[in-house]
Amino acid sequence: MTAEEIIKLKENALKECQAAGTMNELEAVRVRYIGRNGYLPQVMKGLKDVDPSERSEYGRIANEFKNQVSAALDYKKTELAERGTAEAKSVFDYSLPGVWRSLGTKHPISSIIEETVRIFGKLGFTVAEGPDVETAYHNFEALNTPAHHPSLDQTDTFWFETGELLRTQTSPVQIRVMESRKPPIRIITPGRCYRRDTTDATHSANFHQIEGLYVEKNVSLADLKGTLAYFAKEMMGTGVDIRFRPHFFPFTEPSVECDFTCHVCGGKGCRVCKNSGWIEIAGAGMVDPRVFKKVGYDPEEITGYAFGMGIERIAMIKYSINDIRLLYENDARFLSQFI
Ligand code: PHE
Repeated sequence: MTAEEIIKLKENALKECQAAGTMNELEAVRVRYIGRNGYLPQVMKGLKDVDPSERSEYGRIANEFKNQVSAALDYKKTELAERGTAEAKSVFDYSLPGVWRSLGTKHPISSIIEETVRIFGKLGFTVAEGPDVETAYHNFEALNTPAHHPSLDQTDTFWFETGELLRTQTSPVQIRVMESRKPPIRIITPGRCYRRDTTDATHSANFHQIEGLYVEKNVSLADLKGTLAYFAKEMMGTGVDIRFRPHFFPFTEPSVECDFTCHVCGGKGCRVCKNSGWIEIAGAGMVDPRVFKKVGYDPEEITGYAFGMGIERIAMIKYSINDIRLLYENDARFLSQFI
């Protein structure tokens, strides 16, 4: 075999190496060119027939044939092996466990609102809403809250320069509904409220209330008591009872505060209810005749009751949450506990 023939052979070998698409094809190339019965032994054998003056050049070309073809084979072998693992990886393994996607959960405040709306819905109450930015008239004046009342104070209310304010309670919705409708009225109104409170474990400058209003002829305090007792059992459990304590609100007369039996100890007294057996849940009372006058109703003919409850308070009691701030931090570890 001449030197030129070896060079030609080498080029063919390299091309075939390059073209090999599988390990088997590559192995065939190796066997044909540098295998024991392939071209290489013939190339080496040719050395002794070459003229001594050309022998070193022939030797160099023969070595080059061996080395370059071996290197190309090795290179291609690695390439094919890598491609093989990549292909193997891309095959989907149906026996693997699925990827877990975490689902969102309902926020405890939303759950309490939905549950409250559902319970009062069964009694014929529908949902009404009012604005967060209120007039002083709706939030205070129409609710019979005089200008010197402490809740009007700069330290309690967020005022705007326009004279408007962020509502401090959901009670102004009572006024808006009565202004726009005639009795009978039976509404429930969940919403945000704002007070200039310093945040701590039981206070927040932004919280939620649910207001209820029932206006018709011959509504009595007994109706209010029956309604709240039904709500207490539906929300907290059948063993939960209620009691009224006398209180004062400018827009109800008489006014009461409503306590639920502590659902943790059943009324015996425990840490949660501070050993009293009762937990304060709502402010309530019979709508004050002056409020009816403000909205153009005749207080001689029309009666009604109203109540307001803190949603965070119900959530904290129902779910045993000891810090109100947990409800606003959006920590998934906390929120994922509620379904
Ligand atoms: N708005 C009162 C409060 O925020 C609660 C209340 C509502 C009291 C309706 C009586 C009637 O404390």
